[in-house]
Parts: sequence; C-alpha cells; structure tokens
Amino acid sequence: MTNTPYGDLDYTLIDQTQIAERIVEIIKEIEADYEGADNLVLVCLLKGSFVFTADLSRAIKMHHEIDFMVASSYGRGTVSRGSVEIIHDLHSDIFGRHVLIVEDIIDSGYTLAHVRQMLLTRHPASLRICTLLNKPERREVDVPVDYIGFDIPDEFVVGYGLDYDEKYRNLPFVGVLKESIFTENLV
Ligand code: IMP
Ligand code: MG
Repeated sequence: MTNTPYGDLDYTLIDQTQIAERIVEIIKEIEADYEGADNLVLVCLLKGSFVFTADLSRAIKMHHEIDFMVASSYGRGTVSRGSVEIIHDLHSDIFGRHVLIVEDIIDSGYTLAHVRQMLLTRHPASLRICTLLNKPERREVDVPVDYIGFDIPDEFVVGYGLDYDEKYRNLPFVGVLKESIFTENLV
C-alpha cells in the first residue's frame, strides 16, 4: 500500500498502549471527582479531540451526554493572534450542568481560554478541562487544566485525532512527522 501515513513519520512519541493505560488512570480521577453528578456532559472540541473523546466516553462508566463544538483560532503568529471563532456551537443548554471540555492538545492556550470563558457565561454547575496532550513550554495564556494525559515537548505531533493539513488523524498513536513533510508543503 502506498497511500498510507505511516511512512511520513519520524518516530512514535506516545504509543497505543501508553494512551490506553493513561486513559484508565484519568477515568479513575474523573469518576471520583464527578461521583454523584447525574448531569455530566462531555464537550468534544472538534475536530482534533474526536478520537480521545470516543475513547474517554466509552471508558467512563457513569451516565453522561456528549456534545460537540468547533472552534477555530486564526492568525497565529500574526497581529490578530489569539482571536478564536466559534464555527459550530453546542446543541445542548449547559446551564446547571457539569461540563467537561475534552481537547486534543493545548498549545498557546488561546482556544481553550476563549471557549472556557464563553461557556462560563452560560452558568454550568461546574466546568473542567481534560486534554490528552499539553505543551507547557508554548503557553501564552493561562488556562486551568484539570486532567492532562501527557505533557510533551515543543514538537508538532500528529495522530490519534491530531492532524497536519487534515491528514494523519487516523493514526492510532501520537507521532512526529519527518521534517521533509513540512518542507514539501512549502513549495
Ligand atoms: P492553542 O489555541 O494554541 O492552544 O491551539 C490548540 C489547537 O492547535 C489544538 O486544538 C490543535 O488543533 C492545534 N495544535 C497545536 N499543536 C498541535 C500539534 O502539535 N499538532 C496538531 N495540532 C496542534
Ligand atoms: Mg483542536
């Protein structure tokens, strides 16, 4: 097979087993923290967190709903850096509900800071954030994160929902692309 993403990878950063084991640990924390909460809703930030949300949701043994939101940040690295647009809003009313935002990766923090502020104005009973990956070195704006799968170095990663140019989301692990993939795209 030639049209596969596997040959584009430099190395695997976090393999499937590591992800699965970490999810079990995070779920234990989540289930303990939300003990007795009967109106939990997971907010999946599309597109990147669709895989993580699916795995998390299937492992959480308590009742919960899932809703989706698409947020897009524009002009990163330009003057308008940090402006975030909501492309698709939630369907459900989160007033009085326990909301857990599920994100794939936190980089500068702008996306989550914006989404968090916006959801807080709707007065949920509680609002927490769960991210699979976190790049602490890259943070530009403070955002409280309650559950972190893995702190990672400042590398551009793909797989397990994360893309480069909309590709590589289907890789079942998190990896780093070969340098040549980026340079090919510049021409
Ligand atoms: P932030 O607003 O800078 O925190 O951006 C977070 C978003 O940027 C994530 O939801 C991803 O869509 C994207 N992103 C940041 N770092 C990476 C990466 O290493 N690989 C793929 N997407 C990334
Ligand atoms: Mg994203």
